[in-house]
Amino acid sequence: MADQGGATYQAQDRNLALDLVRVTEAAALAASRWMGRGNKIEADGAATEAMRRAFDTVAIDGTVVIGEGEMDEAPMLFIGEKVGSGGPKMDIAVDPLEGTTLTAKGGPNAMTVISMAEAGRFLHAPDCYMDKIAVGPGLPDGVVNLGAPVAENMRALAKARGCDLSDLVLCTLDRDRHEELIAKCRELGVRIMLIPDGDVAGVIAAGLPDGGIDIFWGIGGAPEGVIAAAALRCSGGQMQGRLLFEDAAQLERSRGMGITDPDRVYAIEEMAGGDVMFAGTGVTTGAMLRGVRRAGASGAITHSIVMRSKSGTVRYIEAHHNFATKTWTQW
Ligand code: FBP
Repeated sequence: MADQGGATYQAQDRNLALDLVRVTEAAALAASRWMGRGNKIEADGAATEAMRRAFDTVAIDGTVVIGEGEMDEAPMLFIGEKVGSGGPKMDIAVDPLEGTTLTAKGGPNAMTVISMAEAGRFLHAPDCYMDKIAVGPGLPDGVVNLGAPVAENMRALAKARGCDLSDLVLCTLDRDRHEELIAKCRELGVRIMLIPDGDVAGVIAAGLPDGGIDIFWGIGGAPEGVIAAAALRCSGGQMQGRLLFEDAAQLERSRGMGITDPDRVYAIEEMAGGDVMFAGTGVTTGAMLRGVRRAGASGAITHSIVMRSKSGTVRYIEAHHNFATKTWTQW
């Protein structure tokens, strides 16, 4: 956003961050109707539709670069779709419902998320996996690296933090593919928080002083990796990501999206560069956010987090919605 500096833009930028929360709130309220109903497709669809609709009220000339899929496979919030009512050119990375299974099962930590950057600053990550490693702010540059052995990374992190290995907590998705990582960490005495789904929240937690973890490491979705990188930029953390392709078709598709070196390890700024913003609203209650709670016959309470890399402010917003008075355009 460097080309649009000045006090006016500063105010606009701050307002945009709050506008984004309205969008994640709308998606969370819609998805929460599907909490615990065993239908992740409907839950995702409800969140996507509400998010798409709420974007119409945001004053940006936005382009979805990470979305629900390619134009021919997603009805809305597809890659390349234009969103917003006009304004600065922004790129948008969305996951209308991060944790579809969590929502369907009524599990913890489901949230709706959006990251936003000036046009051209997000890695156009294809729908493949990404190996991700992330730590919080205040640590020496490159303290951990994707390419380094587990023991080396853990020892370097413990040293930088001035603590024992057994003081460290690593967060990773509970998947068979992490068996070796988990075994090596346990051998070292590092404690492990296994999460069933939702690694965006895992990466964000690594960047927050009260996140309860010291490092996130493991393989999850690449689009989620880019969204999380933007969030972590706002709290000043470090992250690296490497795309992982399961077959030739995925690799081919990635070439079409501009990926020239499939083995490249991306630094956090290469995944989400420039000034970025992040907003997320809890659908079900987790360590960071409370889920949507109904309040009386015509109300609901949402809990969201908003962050901007420019200011580094991490803001939690509890909103009390009154459906008797609210319309979509007033969102
Ligand atoms: P959904 O919201 O699409 O269910 O994704 C949840 C999630 O756990 C992500 O947070 C994570 O990046 C990805 O799935 C991991 O994929 P997989 O379930 O294939 O291991």
